[in-house]
Amino acid sequence: MGPATFPLLRLLADGRFHSGEDLAKHLGRSRATVSEALKHADELGVDVFSVPGKGYKLASPVEFLDAARIVQGLGSAASRVRLTLADEADSTSTRLAAAAQQGAPSGTCIAAEWQSAGRGRRGRAWQSALGASLTFSILWRFERGPGHLAGLSLAVAVAVSRALERCGVKGVGVKWPNDLVADWKKLAGILVETSGDLLGPTAAVIGVGVNFRLGEALLARIDQPAIDCMSLAAEPPSRNGILAALIAALVADLERFEREGFGAFREDWMARHAYAGRRVTVLAPGCAPREGAVTGLAEDGALVVDLDGTATRLTAAEISLRPA
Ligand code: ATP
Ligand code: BTN
Repeated sequence: MGPATFPLLRLLADGRFHSGEDLAKHLGRSRATVSEALKHADELGVDVFSVPGKGYKLASPVEFLDAARIVQGLGSAASRVRLTLADEADSTSTRLAAAAQQGAPSGTCIAAEWQSAGRGRRGRAWQSALGASLTFSILWRFERGPGHLAGLSLAVAVAVSRALERCGVKGVGVKWPNDLVADWKKLAGILVETSGDLLGPTAAVIGVGVNFRLGEALLARIDQPAIDCMSLAAEPPSRNGILAALIAALVADLERFEREGFGAFREDWMARHAYAGRRVTVLAPGCAPREGAVTGLAEDGALVVDLDGTATRLTAAEISLRPA
């Protein structure tokens, strides 16, 4: 990625044609630099059309992140958050974990326009493209040890669901342990990574990836059914508005989780439980897939599945569910 690529994409964000000459003038660089810099746009998953006589144009407009709009949307939560916006990061969670090691305070939050190496659980990749996704991580420091944080990723799923619902995204459900789904397709993923002593304190890096508007090329890169906010909202939602709502909801709900634990979220989680009573295949590393029926959710956030007549608690973060 050249240093001119992001400034140029911002100039093209409106989705209209801009001549190479105008772009070069705005940037104070040559037309050759413009053409060279825009060659890198496809690495970010954006299509730039070049039409002789008309100039350059994005396939669809991009709403870039805007710190002032996000801070305004945060309302009273703004004082609890230290927000950094990055054009690109390998992974906001990797970057935030390094900042946490260096003593970054609770509430430090990094959002990236684009991640080159977004991560899911167990080394799996999180796919995104410029303007198509919201990818951010927030650091939360808990007084207590990780043993008290069972259910944290489920509480985060409730916070993210509520925020999306407030932004007009309809039909959001939760899938144990760390996904948001709609219409049986994955809408968002949550990655909680903790560090610290067994007895506390614990630093939790909470990474959230939400599909905002998936283009065909991005959908084709995702190896399971996926869906986006745009297709679930009656009115087109704002990317900045959603990010602000997500961060504000997380701040309020992380404070609540600290005070009250997962119990305060269990009912709201159950109300959105997409797999309640369903037959599922349970995938665990190193084990053969097993089929069973989801029967409930324990007080601590463990999923209870009937496997061959035995009510089995699923707790390991390595476990994945698929519809049977
Ligand atoms: P579980 O369903 O139990 O959460 P998972 O199979 O979804 O497990 P994770 O590690 O939680 O696995 O998430 C990573 C997976 O998410 C990837 O392997 C891929 O299938 C899927 N994925 C990656 N990017 C996206 C995206 N933008 N939208 C939807 N799904 C995605
Ligand atoms: C999952 O479903 O496994 C979780 C995906 C989490 C993706 C987000 S995007 C922001 C943050 N940075 C990452 O590398 N991963 C999380």
